[in-house]
Amino acid sequence: MPDTLEEQLTKHLTDVHSIEVQALQQLLVAPRMARDPELARAFREHIVETEEQERLVRGRLEAHAADPSRLKDAAARAGGIGMVLFARSQPDTPGKLVAHAYSYEHMEFAAYELLSIVAERAGDPDTAAVARSIRDQEAAMAERLAAGFDRAVDASLREFAPDDLGRQLGKYLADAYAIESQALQLLEQGQVIAGEPGLVKVFSDHLDETRAQQAAVHARIEARGERPSRFKSVLLRVGGVNLGGFFGAQPDTPAKLAGFAFAFEHLEVAAYEQLQRVARRADDDETARIAQRIAGEERAAAAAIRARFDAAVETALSAQALSG
Ligand SMILES: [Fe+2]
Ligand SMILES: [Fe+2]
Ligand SMILES: [Fe+2]
Repeated sequence: MPDTLEEQLTKHLTDVHSIEVQALQQLLVAPRMARDPELARAFREHIVETEEQERLVRGRLEAHAADPSRLKDAAARAGGIGMVLFARSQPDTPGKLVAHAYSYEHMEFAAYELLSIVAERAGDPDTAAVARSIRDQEAAMAERLAAGFDRAVDASLREFAPDDLGRQLGKYLADAYAIESQALQLLEQGQVIAGEPGLVKVFSDHLDETRAQQAAVHARIEARGERPSRFKSVLLRVGGVNLGGFFGAQPDTPAKLAGFAFAFEHLEVAAYEQLQRVARRADDDETARIAQRIAGEERAAAAAIRARFDAAVETALSAQALSG
């Protein structure tokens, strides 16, 4: 097996290992934060699955005789992949918790799909099989969370008086505006560092779409007579995105970036699914309609990114061979 393939495989394995370590940390506090018995149960069940996933991945790392100190390093920089956005945003409502968890499950899904592609190429069918079976567990967990969007919205709105719904809707719109600002930065920077022409094209197409989405959200904010100060303060809170500093110019950047962008699109899906539900409860049909449309666009963007996973791995491998 060429060195680059073996190296890439070990790198992907240490990455998914660190993702599981971080997943466990998040899952341990999630049931309490969910403020809903069914959501709490979904999180608790996934703790058991995640512990098993961590064990399986460790087994594959050991099979590749990975240096245990590397494993420790990986755990120390837990969540290295893509936590640039998630780490800073402390979920303060059940809805945000579920949105972040939904996105995290998709980051895991992407990481395992990428791992399976690399493992196949490296002639390691055992690792590829483990990767696919864990990938499917992450997909199932994401589906359970999606089935809980209604419950998450209910749990988030429960503490507010019914006549406060309009103000709550304003907050969800402000959050959507802020997410689109992050999306714009991510796509602009992503185009520059993606390194794979097909992925660059997906990013640039979605960049145009994202500008239109943000304008549509802005129009709803204005139509509802919200004060601009509210969404400006949300923008300050979420801050800027610096992908370059995070991903650096590593040979595996195309694959990691694709996985991260895939997860980010699902953060947006969850945000718009919830915005749509809050708008319905507040009898704002126009906002509900726009949220539904944008959620569909985010799903399509995610699918287009996923379709570049193979090519992203290919680019990463040849970049490493060249730099190697
Ligand atoms: Fe996992
Ligand atoms: Fe998971
Ligand atoms: Fe998007």
